[in-house]
This record gives sequence, structure tokens and C-alpha cells, in this order.
Amino acid sequence: MNDKITILDTTLRDGEQSAGVNFTQSDKLEIARALEAMRIDVIEAGFPAASAAEFANVKAVAKDVRGAAICALSRAVAEDVDAAGEALKGAASPRIHIFLNASDMQLEHQLRKKREDVRALADAMVRRARNYVADVEFSAMDATRADPDFLAEIVRTAIAAGAGTINLPDTVGYVLPHQLHAMMVDLRSRVPELDGVCMSFHGQDDLGLSTANTIEAVRAGARQVELTVNGIGERAGNTALEEVVVALTLHGPSLGVRVDVDTTKISALSQLVAERSGMPVAPNKALVGRNAFRHASGIHQNGVIKKRETFEWIDPKMVGNTRGTEIVLGKLSGRAGFLARVHALGLKLTASKEEETFARFQELADRQRVVEDAEVRAICLQGA
Ligand code: KIV
Repeated sequence: MNDKITILDTTLRDGEQSAGVNFTQSDKLEIARALEAMRIDVIEAGFPAASAAEFANVKAVAKDVRGAAICALSRAVAEDVDAAGEALKGAASPRIHIFLNASDMQLEHQLRKKREDVRALADAMVRRARNYVADVEFSAMDATRADPDFLAEIVRTAIAAGAGTINLPDTVGYVLPHQLHAMMVDLRSRVPELDGVCMSFHGQDDLGLSTANTIEAVRAGARQVELTVNGIGERAGNTALEEVVVALTLHGPSLGVRVDVDTTKISALSQLVAERSGMPVAPNKALVGRNAFRHASGIHQNGVIKKRETFEWIDPKMVGNTRGTEIVLGKLSGRAGFLARVHALGLKLTASKEEETFARFQELADRQRVVEDAEVRAICLQGA
């Protein structure tokens, strides 16, 4: 039986850390319900200690959404842990997620604490969180830039204090896939206790490598991955949920893993998050971009018309794309694409008219970005 990968969606927490995004309570509820409907395992709803409104938002999601675990973020600070515990009181499956810097860069220059103090804090705050909930996640922030000895120490401490999930974030999007793999293998050999808990990965996309890193983390034994819809998040964003979920759905069996997510809800969710966040999706964004299933070049169009899988191996229906495969007519289109559209529009061209009509199409296509159906119709009727 393939191992199940737990999907933690953090659109409502780390996704909201995108510059300029501010989800209202109704946004959070709407997005959380959509995530629940697609069977996301854990929804990170927010950071209750951040503000009174954020506390109320997490509380509202915790009460409303019963089909997923609801997670609240907390610094390793007693007041934060208490706020998270209180906000989650109504949840069916509550989780507190405590994070602490692990790299010397962040310990010295941001947190300004010594390693021994950080270790003591990890121990005390995980134990404090366990007084509220059975399910505690611990993140060793900036794990990929941390000293391996200290990383092992802090992870060991968090597990001993009762953390059931150990998350290893690539906080600044620094690591390369093979380095991450080596880091995880090394950490598992230093901390055999990791075998008794869930190892998790959280990738940022500063180098555009977060999806590749997340898949590599799974190959190295991670059994939880942390994602956001459309990859929204700090700076260049987080790891895109749609990319990892579809990649693991399609390639999971060859990796010995499975995900249990309804992928047909992905397109609608992507649009919802784009609207509520005010962050439009780039046309070339994998799976959810406007161009993800559109074909512009003649060679590709020719192949797709004969058999879709020649240049489009993922079925648009898989992600709930209602437009389906599209042939976009333009200057790179060939005769096959043009004639397919002529037929689709219910028009007929005699063999003698085909040549001159296609020449008229090419002449127009050279002058503009896209040739629309009305223009194809006009071109065909011109010579009739
Ligand atoms: O990027 C990061 O390291 C985080 C942690 C709190 C998981 O968001």
C-alpha cells in the first residue's frame, strides 16, 4: 500500500503573507470550505496572536470546518501558544504549529538568542501546546541553512517534548533538490526518533524550485507537504498546491505514495483565491494559468487535433478546467489548426477554395496576435 502524503494548505496563513493580501473572515471561511470540499488534510487558518481580527478568523474557521484538521501558527512564545490554543477550542481536529529559527544567521541577527535558549524554548513551548492539543507541529525555521548538529538537536528536543510533526522549511528558497535530499537523509540518520513522527517539508519559491524540492522531500521520506493555492506567499511565494497535488496524483504510484485530493476542484479554487487575494494567475502558470491547455503553434495543434496526448498529457478535466483543450489561431498556426476551426464552426470549403482562404488567414494572422472565430468566418465567406 502506498504511503499517504498529508497535504497541509497554508494559503490562509503563509499565503496571506503575500505583500498586499488581507483575507476577510468571509474570505477565509469560503476558501477553507473549498479546501475541505477537495479533501485537504490540514488547513492552516492563520496566526491568532497577530491581531484580534486574526484570532476571530481562526476561531471562525475552527468552528465551521469539521472535515479537515485546523492548524494555528504560533511563535515559541507563551502568549502565542495560549492564543492558538484558545482560538482552536471549537475545532474538531485542532493542531498548533510552533516555529523557531534554526539557522545561526536567523538566531544571531533576527531572534538574537543563543542555541541553548532556543532549545529550551522549543521544549517548553511544545509542552505548553500539548496542554491544549494532542497534535503539535514544530518547524525548525530556515532548516536548510542550519548547522546539521543544531538542527538534529532541536528536532530531537521537539520530538521528546511531544511534537508529532517535524517540519523542515526552506524558508528563503535556498536549497537545491539534491541538497535537500541529502539533508533529510542525514537528519534521519542523526535523529532515529524521526521515524516515529511525520517529517514535513515547506518550500519557498525564491529560485523557482519549490515544487521540485517538495517532490524531492517526499522521495527523501517527508510524509507531509506544505502548500498554497496558486503558490501565493512571501516574496516569490510558496509551493503551489495544484502543482504538487497533481504531480503526486500522477507520479505518486511510482514514488510509493498517494494523495487523497479531489483534483477536479482545483481550477475553481484557483480562481477563488485569485479573486479574494487580488493576485491574478499568470497565463503560463502550470495547470491553472489561462494558457495551460491552449496550443498556439502549428506543429502542436496538428498533433493535438490527431490525438490530444501528443502535446497535452494531462487531461484538463483532471483539474476541473471547463474550457478544455483549446487551439488558438495565430500566425504560427498551420493548415490543420485552421481547417479544424473551419469545420468546428460548421463551415465548408471546397478543395479549390481552401488554398486561397488559408492564404487570407495567414495574411491576417501575420498582423495580429489571435484570429477570432468571427474573423475565420468572414475569411471563409469572403471567397464564397
Ligand atoms: O517559511 C517558513 O519557514 C514558515 C514556517 C513558519 C513554516 O512559514
